[in-house]
Amino acid sequence: MKTDNGDSGARIRRDATAGGGLPVTGDRFAGDLEGTIERAFLRAGGLSRDEVRRRPIIGICSSWSELNPCNMGLRDLAESVRSGVAAAGGTAVVFPTISLNENMIVPTSMLLRNLMAMDVEEMIRCSPIDGVVLLAGCDKTVPAQLMGAASAGKPAIMLTAGPRGCGQFQGRSIVTSDVWDLVPDRLEGRISDAEWDELEGVFAPTVGVCNVMGTATTMAIAAEVLGMALPGSAAVPAVESRRRDLAERTGVRAVELARAGTRPEDVMTPPAFDNAIRVLSATGGSTNEFIHLVAIAGRLGISLGLDRFADIGERTPQVLGVRPSGPFSLEDFDHAGGVPALLAVLEPVLDSGCVLGDGRKLANVCAAVRAAPPRPHPCLRSLDDPFEHKSGLVVLRGSLAPRGAIFKRSAAPRMLWTHRGPAVVFDYHTARKRADDPGLHAAPDSVIVLRNAGPVGAPGMPEIDFVPIPAVLRAAGITEVVCVTDGRMSGTEGGATALHVTPEAAVGGPIGLVRDGDEIVLDATTGTLDLLVDGHELARRAAETPPHASTARRGWERLYVEHVLQPDQGCDLDFLVDHG
Ligand code: FES
Repeated sequence: MKTDNGDSGARIRRDATAGGGLPVTGDRFAGDLEGTIERAFLRAGGLSRDEVRRRPIIGICSSWSELNPCNMGLRDLAESVRSGVAAAGGTAVVFPTISLNENMIVPTSMLLRNLMAMDVEEMIRCSPIDGVVLLAGCDKTVPAQLMGAASAGKPAIMLTAGPRGCGQFQGRSIVTSDVWDLVPDRLEGRISDAEWDELEGVFAPTVGVCNVMGTATTMAIAAEVLGMALPGSAAVPAVESRRRDLAERTGVRAVELARAGTRPEDVMTPPAFDNAIRVLSATGGSTNEFIHLVAIAGRLGISLGLDRFADIGERTPQVLGVRPSGPFSLEDFDHAGGVPALLAVLEPVLDSGCVLGDGRKLANVCAAVRAAPPRPHPCLRSLDDPFEHKSGLVVLRGSLAPRGAIFKRSAAPRMLWTHRGPAVVFDYHTARKRADDPGLHAAPDSVIVLRNAGPVGAPGMPEIDFVPIPAVLRAAGITEVVCVTDGRMSGTEGGATALHVTPEAAVGGPIGLVRDGDEIVLDATTGTLDLLVDGHELARRAAETPPHASTARRGWERLYVEHVLQPDQGCDLDFLVDHG
């Protein structure tokens, strides 16, 4: 009587391929003998005789964890989702998955994103559920769940955790990333012990995700635009009652999706990904979305080359000005109408035929916004009067980044959008020590090259939380320099940094061949990043450079290093991408 999980997965695929209709997984509860065991076990867990006979069975895939305070509100929201599922005639069962907090996972949550995606995929595929509600929040949990659900192929919809509230410090409202700006004041004695203690208690005052346009909210917006979350859900604060309403409606929608047999691939289509790229460009959102969108699309056999990002970005004005890509807050964005209002502004440049999370076409959602427009707010401008006429995010290419790099123009001082200077090279693992060397030769126009911070080299492509500005420059009061790295940065960071340089040093990219003093030219207005060293010299250096020696000996880290793809391919594992 024991059910074979692999066979269950195969059945789902067969049903999905046939198209339409309710998948048969929940029917595992309906059989005479098999069903008895499964019904009995669910009843042992608290469900009633009636509940185990209802259809569809909706899994609530929760990344709630006490090790992930950003996602802790999801435990209560799961109950509201459950109510919505029941109201629509289904039965909900909550199950946990790995949860990744950006600040708790060492060396980096990015090392584990694909592991979480595999966990989510197999739990959805192998469990006797007809559809799933994905509960995510903190940075990597959103893409990991979308990747897993895309591969599992069952009806799915997401509810994100929402931004946490803002605290008050020294008479002003502060957001998560402000704490880094206060570090110099603390180090130089301008903030007392008592004040620092007070800050610890107020800068993250509630559950919910970071309250800036960082990766978590950028990805929550992407989930909405891709049609995988209800319109208007991304910016609603984590602790507001409106989010419980959203949760209940998400449960109802999950039942509708399961009954219709609508799978993620029916919703996350190539035009939907184009819309998501355009919205990313218009918000000046997190650079990490480049990697995550490519990875999600890759699970569906959709190839998103960086040229697509470059092309769309070049033709998309930045109309939203939320920190760090503008002076406004996420609360302002919510008051301005959130994602539906943003879509209404951008509709002339979007594919309005795409279906959003509540089943309406994007055109209908925009029409509803126009029929009852929210109060205008300066955080959201028009296409004719944007914050910037081109995207705040630029794709760079050139001899230093043959397969691309990303530059967040909206968060960089304009005077550093174009720059030429001599390289000062740092290895990611020893950068702090070298930066503090008083004998290091560096000039105000130096270009900091920070390498071996990529998916293979670090490993896991951690977020770089500092640019190693040499002590000699710091002593001269220089706080802004151009940096070039094969690593990532937090979506909340500013600065003139070319990120995700691909290929990375550890797999033989030209960034591994740069020497101190080499001239580097960055031009974020034309999208170029060049190393001014002749090809013969680079070939000579390549011949004498030993191959990268990985220290990963066992377990997940070894599997990851042996199979991870480069950033332009989404940093997924090569055997998880759908090659058709
Ligand atoms: Fe979780 Fe920022 S640390 S969203």
